[in-house]
Amino acid sequence: MSKGIKIAIDGPAAAGKSTIAKMAAEKLGYTYIDTGAMYRALTYKALVRNIDINDGDYLGELLQQTEILLVPLQERQAVIMDGVDVSEAIRSQNVTTNVSTVATHTAVRQLMVEKQRKLSEGTGVVMDGRDIGIAVLPDAELKIFMTASVEERAKRRHIENSKRGISTSLTQLKAEISERDRIDSEREVSPLRRAGDAVLIDTTLMTIEEVAKKISELAEERKEQ
Ligand code: CDP
Ligand code: CDP
Repeated sequence: MSKGIKIAIDGPAAAGKSTIAKMAAEKLGYTYIDTGAMYRALTYKALVRNIDINDGDYLGELLQQTEILLVPLQERQAVIMDGVDVSEAIRSQNVTTNVSTVATHTAVRQLMVEKQRKLSEGTGVVMDGRDIGIAVLPDAELKIFMTASVEERAKRRHIENSKRGISTSLTQLKAEISERDRIDSEREVSPLRRAGDAVLIDTTLMTIEEVAKKISELAEERKEQ
């Protein structure tokens, strides 16, 4: 039996990557790896310990001493850091504001890429992030670059936040998302870029179901190649 293909999904914040990646992994019976959650977990740890997030070498050492597990549960994927469930804590505004700075550092990225590759060994995998198609899984059979207009992405996050009882203005969200996109695209190490062989999907006018269907068709095609 085939062990499955590797699917890399990259793109800017709130384009729908994790929602679709989760659905695709479930449908195909593959492992889903949310690499953003790993950067968020490290950021949370640094903030709790009051560590300077501009000190890349120190953050790299901190990551070396950190265990991050992504545990699939029925309804969601739990993020367990050093034995503690931090799934909710890593979605806080403070983590969101600081995560892109933590993710600029070479020492951090090198180790993250290593960890992420290990997680993907020997299994069908759907991995989402910013550098998957270029740095983590350059040999992935299917690469997607998922995007949407910043207005639409802010609107989606706004609805999502409201459901979680968090009130943030649309203007504030748009500014936060744009700033994170800017840092992620301008950093020196593995900036957010579309891989040359990635399929571009603009989801601005697409429903979740439409995007999921498109990815599912592409995955079936690549599985058979
Ligand atoms: O909020 P959203 O779900 O869009 O972001 P995320 O996927 O949780 O990622 C949070 C941040 O982690 C990104 O804004 C990047 O700064 C960083 N990240 C990265 O640099 N490389 C990855 N492969 C994944 C995330
Ligand atoms: O992982 P990423 O940051 O790219 O985005 P996400 O967390 O999967 O999606 C952000 C929000 O947009 C979620 O609440 C999704 O339900 C919603 N979404 C949508 O409304 N339409 C789509 N085509 C994709 C996602």
